[in-house]
Amino acid sequence: MKGRDLVALWDLEREEVEALLDLGAALKTDPARHAGALAGRTAFLYFEKPSLRTRVTGEVGMAQLGGSAVTHTLDMGRIGGRESVADVARNLERWVDVIGMRTFSQELVEQTAQHSGVPVVNLLTDLLHPCQALADLLTVRGAFASLAGRSLAFVGDGNNVAHSLLIAGAMTGMKVTVVCPPGYEPNLAVMDRARSIAEKNGAEVGYTNDLEAGVAAADVVYTDVWASMGQEAEAESKNEVFLPYQVNEAVFAMASKNAVFMHCLPAHRGDEVTDGVADHERSLIFDQAENRLHAIKAIYLATILGL
Ligand code: CP
Repeated sequence: MKGRDLVALWDLEREEVEALLDLGAALKTDPARHAGALAGRTAFLYFEKPSLRTRVTGEVGMAQLGGSAVTHTLDMGRIGGRESVADVARNLERWVDVIGMRTFSQELVEQTAQHSGVPVVNLLTDLLHPCQALADLLTVRGAFASLAGRSLAFVGDGNNVAHSLLIAGAMTGMKVTVVCPPGYEPNLAVMDRARSIAEKNGAEVGYTNDLEAGVAAADVVYTDVWASMGQEAEAESKNEVFLPYQVNEAVFAMASKNAVFMHCLPAHRGDEVTDGVADHERSLIFDQAENRLHAIKAIYLATILGL
């Protein structure tokens, strides 16, 4: 993947996703592996939205590999504000080795990637969250040894995290079902892509409004905040619609008896998930957070060095 962008998982081959997971797992087993491999290299990390996990792992991951990171937040200026997106990309490529972007618009990430000679990594847009999905696959693989045939029920809004999980699951032979209130289904174009990828990989993807049917026998019950970043104004009206889809102990019990709970965090405890589930012995939420570090290190090594 040397020099390649990671703006969406559907741009990758299944083998490339599996290679990233293998590298991430190796880095998890041996955190000092490839220490110094990115000495003298720099990541530019651009955030239009708040972040804890993505920003810290993006910076720490670079430091662990011997490189450094420059974090840029909106108060420092917006890409495309003072000068064209193309000109920003042509400046950045002269100074840094990889560009990570968390933006509202997927198009802004794609446009920057189009004009930049260094890899651009999507750190979350309103449409997709591929780095989260890679860390999540690493987490599921860690829990169940393999991904093919595993069933994941994403309960909540058919949002960017749900979209990337649909694509990631479709690429790796999983069954991914988005369980959502009517009107909050995943983006249909993403769903179509996921279905077509799933067909090639013996995977199954879909969505349902039926909570019990969607969660029944799932190996993984996953949820996310009801109002994604940038949609906080809708939170109050959404709460009423989403409350029947709260992942509480009764809902978690509908899944397979060894099911694990996952959440990309931050969690709004008492809304989309109860404390009893978030802190359950089969909750993997902090393993997921840890795996963000191993995943971004693998992405840096693959896109900058081709490892
Ligand atoms: N899951 C996730 O992307 O966390 P942050 O918003 O804290 O980066």
